Amino acid sequence: MAEIDRYRADDKRAVEGLYRRVFGNDAAESSRLRWEWQYRRNPNNPGHEPEIWIAREGPAIVGQYATMPVRVSLGGREVQGSWGTDVMVAPERQRQGLGEQLFRTWDRNVGASLGLGLSESSYRLFQKMRWPDVGPVPCFVKPLTRRALRRPNWPTGLNRLVSALTLPIVKIVGRDRPLGAEVRLIQRFDDSFTALWEELAPKFDLAVRRDAAYLNWKYVNAPHVRYSIAALRRNDRNVGYAVYRSFPEPRGRVTLVVDFLVDPDDESGMRTLLGWIDREARQADSDKIRAFAMHAKFVRLLKRSGYFQVKSTLEFVAKVNGIDLDPGFYERTSNWHITLGDSDQDR
Ligand SMILES: CC(C)(COP(=O)(O)OP(=O)(O)OC[C@H]1O[C@@H](n2cnc3c(N)ncnc32)[C@H](O)[C@@H]1OP(=O)(O)O)[C@@H](O)C(=O)NCCC(=O)NCCS
Repeated sequence: MAEIDRYRADDKRAVEGLYRRVFGNDAAESSRLRWEWQYRRNPNNPGHEPEIWIAREGPAIVGQYATMPVRVSLGGREVQGSWGTDVMVAPERQRQGLGEQLFRTWDRNVGASLGLGLSESSYRLFQKMRWPDVGPVPCFVKPLTRRALRRPNWPTGLNRLVSALTLPIVKIVGRDRPLGAEVRLIQRFDDSFTALWEELAPKFDLAVRRDAAYLNWKYVNAPHVRYSIAALRRNDRNVGYAVYRSFPEPRGRVTLVVDFLVDPDDESGMRTLLGWIDREARQADSDKIRAFAMHAKFVRLLKRSGYFQVKSTLEFVAKVNGIDLDPGFYERTSNWHITLGDSDQDR
């Protein structure tokens, strides 16, 4: 019978070994490079003790549940929650109930347990354990060039034909529009972004607290990726932001909108941020822009700005323990704000 307790400093090598066996060498190496930042430097983890549960059998480590603590805001009321990030059980010990034991231990210890971008096995286990399934988080793509519509599994001729036929649409949705407010690139989030979050938090039925400490940790200090950060300004105040990056994919370049925040009622602000991202994407020579959004008002504006909804694989489960909620809570997700930047999806 396995025992489950918290991670200790001298578990490091055994956990790294298990990670290599379960996820492979490349994933293990990239996890190793992120580890200190991800588990010790998270500002929602003030004691710097990683929020990781370990399953032990005698001296052996047979499983872990690593999590990312966040403050979860429910219409402005906050609970201490966490994203389940790297969960694993030794291959020879899988499907014997250990995963469920780890999931339950984590859940008992947090005010909200959240999962994003799940593997088939963990998604099935969440379902088996009846976690509310509130995903997937919708995915949107805006084509900027003809190459945007290519599919890796189509033959070249078909890709060329689709490109030619869709060119007029691409030209219309991709046209440049004037920006309605000031946008400025920034290097860090200052305290005004904490004030902005506090002002906007009541507008979101569920969202992770996006204060300056969290945003700097997540998007300025991340060791594995470099982001561009644009601040939306009006009357000399920061009233929104967008975090994005551009990179090549097998069939063309993409600009990924990783996170953003603006008052969902500030239509012109959101349009301005999207217009800015269009320009940046064109400058980066991207063929398309990809964004994830859940809030109905953001979704509507994305669609009006030339984004098309495509199939999303970003599964999402959420369970709130810290506050009594009415039974319909998990069915009304149109005021939830979840993006790709949540959890540790952009790795
Ligand atoms: C996810 C994981 C930790 C679950 O641990 P576990 O000890 O196997 O889970 P349990 O024995 O408690 O629960 C088994 C249930 O999990 C789900 N499950 C586990 N492995 C599965 C698989 N390969 N395919 C589909 N469902 C699976 C099923 O619901 C299963 O129930 P069943 O056996 O009645 O069909 C483990 O499968 C694992 O390490 N997977 C590889 C790493 C991974 O994908 N991590 C998640 C990253 S998001």
